[in-house]
Amino acid sequence: MKSALHIISSARGALSYSRCLSTAIINKLIDKGEIDKVVERDLAKASPPFLDEALIWEFYKFPEMIDERGKRLLSYANAIFNEMNEAEIIVISTPMHNLGISSLLKAWLDQLVRMGISYKFNADGTKTGCLTSKKVYLAIASGGRLAYWPREYEFIESYIKAVFSAYAGITDVCTYRVEGTAEPNFRVDYEGIIQNL
Ligand SMILES: Cc1cc2nc3c(=O)[nH]c(=O)nc-3n(C[C@H](O)[C@H](O)[C@H](O)COP(=O)(O)O)c2cc1C
Repeated sequence: MKSALHIISSARGALSYSRCLSTAIINKLIDKGEIDKVVERDLAKASPPFLDEALIWEFYKFPEMIDERGKRLLSYANAIFNEMNEAEIIVISTPMHNLGISSLLKAWLDQLVRMGISYKFNADGTKTGCLTSKKVYLAIASGGRLAYWPREYEFIESYIKAVFSAYAGITDVCTYRVEGTAEPNFRVDYEGIIQNL
């Protein structure tokens, strides 16, 4: 059995389609006996801190240089890194906001990605991610449909794949979408969307 981390990033609570989709993914993984423990982090209930000058300084300090104040500033970043580190499966939901991920999810990612923590530099200048062997399920909800836009307007899945691959060592990302939520008489079949899971 594996443990899962559930990241929710829509501010719409129980009305959120992306949250309902990621919850359906979690429930199916439980039903299939693939996970037996779920840690939930709802970013709308407690927003990640934005990066400010003081925190950025702490990000680039050697561990032995970090004092008590630095530890307090880094407490959120350390907590979410530990949650990621302890989970084998990560289920992330995001609304599409202005073609991109939610600002809450971006703020969470900006706390997660850290040189020396989520990735390390090798002697030859290449990077190695430190959160390897994890599977990510990405649940996206959008008012419109990808099929109606130029292909180059897809930023969410490509961004999440790139940032996890480059800065965490996570390369296994499986995406599910609820599309057309802004259409009149929209109806959603979550089980249908995740039928191949
Ligand atoms: C600020 C804002 C920006 C949005 N931008 C887009 C967009 O660029 N493309 C789109 O298809 N839908 C867009 N939508 C619609 C949402 O993607 C849609 O309502 C979706 O269901 C939100 O996910 P949620 O239900 O999980 O909150 C936007 C909605 C809001 C509130």
